[in-house]
Amino acid sequence: MAENRILIIDFGGQYDQLIARRVRECSVYSEIWDYSDVDMARIAGFAPKGIIFTGGPQSAYRSEAPSVDDGLFGLGIPILGICYGAQYMAHRLGGHISSAPTSEYGRTEVRVTDRSGVLQPAEEVNICWMSHTDYISQPPDGFRITALTEHCPVAAMEDQKRGFYALQFHPEVNHTVHGADFIRRFVLDICDCEQDWKMDSFGDRKIREIREKVGEGKVLLALSGGVDSSVVAALLAKAIGPQLTCVFVDHGLLRKDEAAQVASVFGEQGDFDIRFRKIDVAQRFYGKLAGVTEPEKKRKIIGEEFIRVFEETAKEIGKVDYLAQGTIYPDIIESGRGKSAVIKSHHNVGGLPDHVDFREIIEPLRMLFKDEVRQLGRELGLPDSLVNRQPFPGPGLGIRIIGEVTEEKVHMVQEADAIFREEVAKAGLAGSISQYYAALTNIRTVGVMGDFRTYDYAVALRAVETSDFMTAEASRIPWEILERVMNRIVGEVDHVNRVFYDLTSKPPGTVEME
Ligand code: XMP
Repeated sequence: MAENRILIIDFGGQYDQLIARRVRECSVYSEIWDYSDVDMARIAGFAPKGIIFTGGPQSAYRSEAPSVDDGLFGLGIPILGICYGAQYMAHRLGGHISSAPTSEYGRTEVRVTDRSGVLQPAEEVNICWMSHTDYISQPPDGFRITALTEHCPVAAMEDQKRGFYALQFHPEVNHTVHGADFIRRFVLDICDCEQDWKMDSFGDRKIREIREKVGEGKVLLALSGGVDSSVVAALLAKAIGPQLTCVFVDHGLLRKDEAAQVASVFGEQGDFDIRFRKIDVAQRFYGKLAGVTEPEKKRKIIGEEFIRVFEETAKEIGKVDYLAQGTIYPDIIESGRGKSAVIKSHHNVGGLPDHVDFREIIEPLRMLFKDEVRQLGRELGLPDSLVNRQPFPGPGLGIRIIGEVTEEKVHMVQEADAIFREEVAKAGLAGSISQYYAALTNIRTVGVMGDFRTYDYAVALRAVETSDFMTAEASRIPWEILERVMNRIVGEVDHVNRVFYDLTSKPPGTVEME
């Protein structure tokens, strides 16, 4: 592991993952720990060079407010408190927190009065993102106020002698001008971290670790063709080559040409010396889905059937020592927090089957964020088409065909989606839209083509911009491009005579339609 580490203590803030990413963007390793998992012995083992307290929904002065061992303040390493974290720091060190007469939300002008500490890169009036109902009404002894707003007397404070810094606003969100620079200043200058978190050295180290762990053992991986499982495959291929078997289930719900592409990279003609098994079970899936229209039911059928196919294949392969999975850090953070209401039952093709005979699980990407996974994929020599692949749900096109799934509809949506992707790429927009696809609605409408009446399906185009997929906005794709896509879809895809563009944001919509 990198020697320079920042510990982020999670008090339940909304943007905690962003804080960790900002630190990693400085090429410094960071981990998020729930406040309830923090103890002094564990911290000593981790040996962070700095600590960041996140925001959170509670009031620091309430008895039930989340709290950590006060010994943290005696470690002699810098601490940065953000929002709740700032108030918590003030409260524990003897300052005062009160309910603010005027809450601040969103874009706020912050007047910076002293640029010596974290705020060195700031403007005199710096636009920052606020979200608070309490505020620090009086800083603890030893602290100086370094920024304020119209309604908040302590927008930032610091005690440089002890290395304690507090920001009422959120430096981790993009809306805060120079926010990333404030975090960089804390990590690199104040904590004096060296930039030793790099993907090439990560890859080399993981390959060594996997070799040591696996020895002569056999490893099984469910390869979906998505970024995460593909990068795991490439990493394992480099580490243990022919001891790896990748099982790629083609359930007939993949995007156009996707199955062939995955096979060309990982199959016999590909660059990797591994065992690759492509299981063609499209008809089996179509059979199971026949007549089913309810989205959750469809998701469950696809998820369960996938596991069953994987188990059957695993049985043929026989006993393996390890099952590899493409779990990444956001999955770990989310599951650690206990999921809130289930909106959709997400199915990941990396999901764990019950009856596969293996000794242990290997999850080499479990501490990486998505952008780091992509970077690692590039280092390992995977093609851009795979590394930059946009997110694709486990149930695949099964949830992009509204209502009943049939082979004919799969074909329609594959063709429409391929046209949409091709035109977006041609227009140079592929990198700037977070996710985009074509779905097939179950609406049929009347149209006219040539001199004939048509009564055919409508395709819905969806394109969103988002940084975390928790919230999203419809992408403002130029009209001419949408028009070209529409013309091509109705012209080239049989039985489609109408195209809609989905304007709905998330919430209230979701990214996928089912
Ligand atoms: P929603 O539709 O929940 O999607 O707004 C958010 C992100 O998650 C992807 N998604 C899935 N990914 N298995 C997955 O691996 C699933 O079952 C699943 N459902 C949605 C979706 O494509 C978007 O990126």
